[in-house]
Parts: sequence; C-alpha cells; structure tokens
Amino acid sequence: MLVIGIAGGTGSGKTTVVNKILQQLNLEGVNVLSQDNYYHDNPNLTLSEREVLNYDHPKSIDFDLMLQHVKALKNHQSIEQPIYSFVTHSRTGDHITVEPRNVLIVEGILVLTSKELLKEFDLKVFVHADSDERLIRRIRRDTQERGRDLQEVLHRYQTTLKPMHQEFIEPSKNEADLIVPNMKQNSVAIDFLTTVINNSLKKVH
Ligand code: C5P
Repeated sequence: MLVIGIAGGTGSGKTTVVNKILQQLNLEGVNVLSQDNYYHDNPNLTLSEREVLNYDHPKSIDFDLMLQHVKALKNHQSIEQPIYSFVTHSRTGDHITVEPRNVLIVEGILVLTSKELLKEFDLKVFVHADSDERLIRRIRRDTQERGRDLQEVLHRYQTTLKPMHQEFIEPSKNEADLIVPNMKQNSVAIDFLTTVINNSLKKVH
C-alpha cells in the first residue's frame, strides 16, 4: 500500500488537491482518511464550552487512533472511522467502515506534525496558499457550510488559527517532499503529483 500525507493550513485547498488527484488517478483503490474525523470527542463539556476550544493545536487530534487506523489499513484490516460534526463539535456516534485499498491519502492541517504518522508516509505533500487567500476561503466555508458568523470566524482566526499556523503548521512544511502552490488552478503540480504516485505504485506492486 502507498501512503500519502497531505498537509497545509486551513483554506489552503487540500480537499481540492485531493479531489483532483483522485480524478486524474482514476483508480478505484484509493482511500482518503481526513484528520477532521479524528478530533477528540469532548462529551463531558457543554456545547458552549466546546465552541471555545482550540481546534488547531496538535493536542486536539486523536493521533493515537489515526495512527492505529493507518497501521490497520496497511495491515490489510478494515477500520471503523468515526464521523465528526463541526456544528456540535463532537463525534456523531456513527462510523464508516473503511476497507483497505492500494492507496491511502491521509489529509489534514496537522498530519505532518505527528512524528509517528510521518514514519508511515511514503510521500509527504504540503499545500501552500497565502494567508489572506486562506482567510477568505475560511470565511466563505465557515459562514456558508459550518453555521458560523463572520465575527466568530475572525475572532478565531486571530486568537487561534493564526498563532497555531505559525507555531505548528508552517514549520511542518519542512517535512514535505513536495510543496504544491495552490493560489490558483495548478494543473502542472497535479500532473506532477499523479505521475509521482503512479511511479511509486509501480514500485510498491
Ligand atoms: O478543513 P480544514 O483543514 O480547514 O479543517 C481544519 C479546521 O477546522 C481547523 O482550522 C479548525 O479550527 C476547524 N474546526 C472547527 N470546529 C471544530 C473542529 C475544527 O472550526 N469543531
């Protein structure tokens, strides 16, 4: 199995890059494991307490479970992936059964900060977009899809997103094999990435 880690700040366009890779690879056998589904559940806190937690610090992620799942899939075992709600800031209690496949993409803002996960990746990618571009995308997404208001997004950006990005995410760029600039449509980078993935797949099989 080929395991690819894809990181980048919030709003950098990781999901777009992953979707383009999936389209171009045109392979049946790809799984995408999103860090977003591995936020720690905080069932003992109230909704208003959960609303003010820092969700951009590595400690907010259940990396133990993520690692366990990556290892299980590599070991040809299926996993029960938790589902997370950005509205209630908690796990929904439902799971998705993920069966092992030839390629595993692990994506999320902090996936290149975990020393243990890094050991599992055959290819490490960092998606870059400038911070103003990322903030614009984040405002659009959080207000349109995640039920947040503008003041809340801006407050969160200044108090947690920006400092956490500077402390943890930006430095993790140094772990990447490839940095993909994603300010605009970047078909060359996607072509390049899919070629690298196809070549690696030939070596793995
Ligand atoms: O999709 P993306 O990689 O941007 O998702 C990560 C972002 O989700 C983090 O920047 C974090 O602030 C946000 N988040 C949130 N509410 C949660 C959990 C994460 O806004 N309950």
